[in-house]
Amino acid sequence: MAGRIPESFINDLLGRVDIVDVVGPRVQLKKSGRNHKGLCPFHDEKTPSFNVNEDRQTYHCFGCEAHGTAIGFLMEYDSQTFPEAIETLASMVGMEVPREAGRGPKVDTELYDVLNAAARQFQRWLRGDEAGSAVAYLKERGLSGEVVRDFGIGLAPSGWERLKTALTSFGEQKLIDAGLLVRQEGGRGRVYDRFRERIVFPIRNTRGRVIGFGGRVYGDGQPKYINSPETEVFRKGRELYGLYEARRAQRGLQSVVVVEGYMDVVALAQHGVTNAVATLGTAIGESHFETLYRHVNLVVCCFDGDEAGRGAAWKAVDAAFPVLSETRQLKFVFLPEGEDPDTVVREKGAEHFRTLLDDAVPVGEYFLDHLQEGLDLDQADGRALLAELAAPHIRRLPRGALQEILINDLASRVRMDASVVAGAAGGARERVPIRDPRANERHGIGNKPLLKYVVQYPQLIDGMDATVRAELADPTDASLLADVVRHLVDEPGMNTGTLIGCFVGRAGYDDLAALAEEETLLAKEAIVLDLEKRARRYVFKRQEAALARRAVESGSVDDAKRLSDAKVRQAL
Ligand code: CTP
Ligand code: MN
Repeated sequence: MAGRIPESFINDLLGRVDIVDVVGPRVQLKKSGRNHKGLCPFHDEKTPSFNVNEDRQTYHCFGCEAHGTAIGFLMEYDSQTFPEAIETLASMVGMEVPREAGRGPKVDTELYDVLNAAARQFQRWLRGDEAGSAVAYLKERGLSGEVVRDFGIGLAPSGWERLKTALTSFGEQKLIDAGLLVRQEGGRGRVYDRFRERIVFPIRNTRGRVIGFGGRVYGDGQPKYINSPETEVFRKGRELYGLYEARRAQRGLQSVVVVEGYMDVVALAQHGVTNAVATLGTAIGESHFETLYRHVNLVVCCFDGDEAGRGAAWKAVDAAFPVLSETRQLKFVFLPEGEDPDTVVREKGAEHFRTLLDDAVPVGEYFLDHLQEGLDLDQADGRALLAELAAPHIRRLPRGALQEILINDLASRVRMDASVVAGAAGGARERVPIRDPRANERHGIGNKPLLKYVVQYPQLIDGMDATVRAELADPTDASLLADVVRHLVDEPGMNTGTLIGCFVGRAGYDDLAALAEEETLLAKEAIVLDLEKRARRYVFKRQEAALARRAVESGSVDDAKRLSDAKVRQAL
């Protein structure tokens, strides 16, 4: 297998390629200043909201939030893999791609071939003469042949080595790597089919490649579902069942309905509600929302009308809060006890289901209503408790209109002034979480507004006060911010694209790419000042946190005293 492409080469390459030369031949662009505008190739639109920024060497669509560097553009637009995109760019500027020796973390594209071949084989079996009771089951669930075909549903027949035999040309190990075969633990290590006597739902990524399967029993049997394990290409934490099919069914998809089951997705599609998606047997998490909001502005969660479904809804609030904004909306539908989307749409029809979606409860309202349950807001205690319960959650929302709205709503419920509530939300306007002094060290981006400035205007780091800069680059700070500053100190003069290029394929890349595209309301002169101010405060907070931790760990009076001195200094 070809080795890893050295990071230094990618930096060098991104420094030489002009993103306008990459996008220009593929999308008709009109120049206005250093910006180029055009119709977005990633969603359906009539007025151009797709921007290519020469200075930052990035693209961004204000309609569908698609964004990235030249590499990302080729990956999305031409469905190229990462190494393919690098090859394309390198050949544009006449460079040869070097490879480091040894195996790299390159995605094994052969896995896609295996999974695709398996999906086809399962589909053939569903059309074959062993399919009698499986087909009867699907019919009984109200599914037509057309929907079964659209979702690529298939059949894993009974027997232990059916797929193993059918796909023998790929080799046993490849089939194990793809999650299709299981090696028995211990013993003789027998290798057999994971999916047996089940209806199989292929799970496809947004490019339509099969990445895994869910298999449901159609007779009796336990467990009801078996899913592919995590593999190199199957990441349950961010992939969603039905997203590819929804995007294919509706060009310019605006919203999705998140349901709990594969069957709910398919049953809704059967009734013409073609924008349902489901997680893959896991709870919905922040990364799922990240994925969804890359494609739509509105997500409606419609979980089962039971205890588990209601629990899932509350968990979804928690998962979604850090990524919400006024343009990334979240709503909830609560079904009657004992119902799920599948039973509702089958019994009451699509029209009824659509009215439920239209009446969905906005996240802020559900959030406060839920916390308020059982509290007596006529009592001062009850109101204080609500404010206290809500504050830490509200703090997790990005600053902006949505956070303001929630603060105002909370303020009127607890009959306090909005500014007081905002204060109680722990400086919701300044998201410098130091409640856990170790939080910044463990992981995390450091400080978002600061990181955003640094990403958007990397040159500003050069002109910064040297002491503050050195502090920001402190080698013991494991935050993304510190990592970025260290890169800039090591290699001055990088632009946004080059900087982000350093993080390609690494944790933090998505955060940086997103920050590069966020709107900045301040003029550049104001940013210089704000950057300096925030940097000083960040460094101070970090020192304070370190002191606090030492004071706690050592119980030292000295440290505690230095901490309080520091607090006094900062207040002055
Ligand atoms: N699930 C799973 N393993 C199980 C049970 C459920 O992975 N043993 C996951 C599947 O992704 C399933 C989802 O949880 O689709 C929801 O479960 P459930 O509501 O029980 O399944 P449905 O898909 O709605 O199927 P059905 O309507 O046939 O019961
Ligand atoms: Mn169900």
